[in-house]
Amino acid sequence: MIQPRILTTDDGSQTLESPISGDTYHSVRGAVGESMHIYIREGFSSLPLSHIRILEIGFGSGLNAWLTARAASEQNRTVYYETIERYPIDLQTASQLEYAQDPLFVELHRASWNCPVTINDRFVLKKRELSLEDCRFDTTFDLIYFDAFAPDTQPELWTTTIFRRLYEALSDGGVLVTYSAKGSVKEHLRSAGFTVKRRPGALGKHHMVRATKNSEPTNE
Ligand SMILES: C[S@@+](CC[C@H](N)C(=O)[O-])C[C@H]1O[C@@H](n2cnc3c(N)ncnc32)[C@H](O)[C@@H]1O
Repeated sequence: MIQPRILTTDDGSQTLESPISGDTYHSVRGAVGESMHIYIREGFSSLPLSHIRILEIGFGSGLNAWLTARAASEQNRTVYYETIERYPIDLQTASQLEYAQDPLFVELHRASWNCPVTINDRFVLKKRELSLEDCRFDTTFDLIYFDAFAPDTQPELWTTTIFRRLYEALSDGGVLVTYSAKGSVKEHLRSAGFTVKRRPGALGKHHMVRATKNSEPTNE
């Protein structure tokens, strides 16, 4: 377990700073603003599925998972949420985040690792403690939140090989969203088979990426 430092971002919401690389877990311009834009609006809310299977790369502070669990309740949808994390944070750090005022946030952190846990009637969480490079999947997903540290910091995670494995783990019409629209990232995604679209980025950033596998899913 690691104990990252807590930082306050420009929109007043908190994030963490990695004691290993010094990277922040979200944009310093706004943690909640960035997560809401990229993962909730461009990802979760954009797919018309009443039940949605999500894979997240990097559980981190649990902010994306918590915002998704709240959105699931607000939108009357159910979620299976699998998340991969190589360096889980300790419970004490998680409890000191402002989000821990919501018992739901604490429950996400308290949930056991490496097995599915029913958090409530809308949200099942499976946190897997392992490295993405070693990860294999025994189920398929409708949506991937690709939230690794930046491609300049972790180039080994933003490769065609990794993206091809994620492409294979997506259902037909599945979507991958990520904050980086770097040229090499788009190239590797295309080489892995994705159709890549640039979308407006979060909080003044020019672009983010929304990549799809064939046509998008419907409820039919
Ligand atoms: C940008 S942060 C994720 C933020 C997170 N989604 C949240 O809502 O707080 C990147 C995360 O990837 C994790 N990570 C770093 N290397 C990894 C690897 N090789 N495999 C899986 N996770 C990794 C880090 O520990 C960190 O939690």
